[in-house]
Amino acid sequence: MIKVLKAAAAFLLLLFVGAQFVRPARVNPTAAAGQSLEEHARVPGEVADVLQRSCMDCHSNRTDWPWYSNVAPVSWFVIDHVNHGRRYLNFSRWGEYDRRDRIDHLNAICKTVKGGSMPLDSYTLVHRGTKLGPADVKTLCDWAGAEQRRLASSEGKD
Ligand code: HEC
Repeated sequence: MIKVLKAAAAFLLLLFVGAQFVRPARVNPTAAAGQSLEEHARVPGEVADVLQRSCMDCHSNRTDWPWYSNVAPVSWFVIDHVNHGRRYLNFSRWGEYDRRDRIDHLNAICKTVKGGSMPLDSYTLVHRGTKLGPADVKTLCDWAGAEQRRLASSEGKD
């Protein structure tokens, strides 16, 4: 029995060590200058704070990579979340979205934070203080509404 356990442990250790060689790219691409959300939308300080605290790690090119994003297999999940998150919505590339896309994203931002699906539970679980409270949700939804109205008016042309 002990022998079997030892062999299993050795096998798992080998697997773990082997896994470290599978390293998906972990990058913070340089964003094109002048395309960030701040440069293309009106973002009050309190909104910027909430976004920075709870969203930017996955929805911008300014990801603050945690140490365990170096350790497989956790790294695979973390990197996949960031790549996926950026593909859906990247605040570093807000300027590249047309008006229609921005309005859709703003809608989705309010909807996902109200529904509690964003930020992802796997993220809030390990990042203290990133879970949104009702006040944060209101801050984001009020802002999303205001920004949508601004985009719908002629002022939103940029
Ligand atoms: C841990 C990474 C992570 C964090 C943090 C995070 N997201 Fe996401 N987000 C994702 C991923 C991954 C997707 C892709 C869709 C999915 O898997 O649900 C996504 C998708 C979205 C979408 C598109 C959904 C749709 O239906 O169009 C919106 C909007 C969004 N996130 C908003 C936010 C906001 C706002 C925050 C901060 C309050 C946030 N996210 C925080 C990873 C994250």
